[in-house]
Amino acid sequence: MVGGEVKAPAGRDTRQDLDNGADEILVSTFREKLLDEIDLTELSKLDLTQRRARLERVMTHLVAREGPLLSSRERTTLIRRVVAETLGLGVLEPLLADEAVTEIMINGPDTIFVERLGRLELSPTRFVSVDQLMQTIDRIVSTVNRRVDESSPMVDARLHTGERVNVILPPLALDGPVVTIRKFPRAFTMSELVVRDTLDEETAAFLASCVRAKLNIVVSGGTGSGKTTLLNALSAAIPEHERIVTIEDAAELSLQQKHVIRLESRPANIEGRGQVTIRDLVRNSLRMRPDRIVVGEVRGGETMDMLSAMNTGHEGSLTTVHANSPADALSRLETLASMSDLEIPFQAVQEQVNNAVDVIVQLDRGPDGSRRISAVVSLESRRREEYLLHEVSLFEAAPVGADRIVRGRHVPRPLSPMLSQRLRLAGEQLPPGFDAAQGA
Ligand SMILES: Nc1ncnc2c1ncn2[C@@H]1O[C@H](COP(=O)(O)OP(=O)(O)O)[C@@H](O)[C@H]1O
Ligand SMILES: [Mg+2]
Repeated sequence: MVGGEVKAPAGRDTRQDLDNGADEILVSTFREKLLDEIDLTELSKLDLTQRRARLERVMTHLVAREGPLLSSRERTTLIRRVVAETLGLGVLEPLLADEAVTEIMINGPDTIFVERLGRLELSPTRFVSVDQLMQTIDRIVSTVNRRVDESSPMVDARLHTGERVNVILPPLALDGPVVTIRKFPRAFTMSELVVRDTLDEETAAFLASCVRAKLNIVVSGGTGSGKTTLLNALSAAIPEHERIVTIEDAAELSLQQKHVIRLESRPANIEGRGQVTIRDLVRNSLRMRPDRIVVGEVRGGETMDMLSAMNTGHEGSLTTVHANSPADALSRLETLASMSDLEIPFQAVQEQVNNAVDVIVQLDRGPDGSRRISAVVSLESRRREEYLLHEVSLFEAAPVGADRIVRGRHVPRPLSPMLSQRLRLAGEQLPPGFDAAQGA
């Protein structure tokens, strides 16, 4: 604003100012008025939705009583901004409230990208200064009793609404504080995933049969391909009477059954103590008489414990792994399992994988942002045999047109004799198209 002329308030275009976020004065004046008016202790007893509703109501009165003359759109914008800042994370609140936004990436105070419906876009939202951004960061990390400064410049935290947050500060981040917020994923039912073309009805029915028949299922895919979402949808097929233990790094699953025990790992505290790993939790869960163990994602030594659990009385367990194809998923599992401190010979690891895994579901993220099951395969090999995969269902994509939307169909293949027998023995009807291969 060097040499800039300060406009008289009367001449301002309030609408534009409010939309640009320039009218900080009006927002902060009303924020103070609002804080005077409400009882913070009482407010803290309400949940977020109720808190927002209460604040909006009080703000509406305040603006009507003492506000400048505003159009109804300006009034709404003012109320929304004041309420958002009062609720906690300021300019981020509208993005957090926006269901279509799945990820918020803050690259310094004035560059905020969001992922909306699978695509990255630059958001008009900004912080007024690095200081305002740092205040927001402090507010976020203080909820997990961590601090973030030059001496500990990288922190993982969680918002009370479940979102995962990573913060990395200068000097490690060269252009200012970087914050990455992953929204708490919304739970999709299997039929919602069918509507979104993630899979077709037949594949959905087949997978539900596999879950009921207690096959061990591994969901494989890249980051953000929808593994956790599919795992959650699959888990709905677990019968009500079973005892389920879920184990995650940051709780994302929301199983609908009544008998679910949710466990979450814990990072070390500032002094480097108190860490509880996924592996510790998997081992502990074996002493909890689970019928099923659901591990959000295997990333390390816990893989060995998970595989042995799948082999010894906890059939029907589910997990996800970061891999690009079913074959890649098997080698990832091997690599991860050998990361455990036990010194197991390679062949023994392969044997564990062979005996544990029954079905692999591969997810892919299309160029249009869609998430889709690209393949379902069964693992036919046992013991120390070479891995043998059998295709159960494949997605055949049509050539992508000018709109870049991926279309195609899921093509079922005849099941292997082994798989169809296991399903039949469990009393499952095979969905049409999945009839056993010749010789069953
Ligand atoms: N089939 C789907 N259709 C539309 N959105 C999806 C689908 N699966 C996942 N998502 C969304 O994509 C994001 C990443 O999903 P998530 O299951 O966490 O992926 P992953 O576990 O593979 O990293 C979430 O916001 C989720 O709501
Ligand atoms: Mg996940």
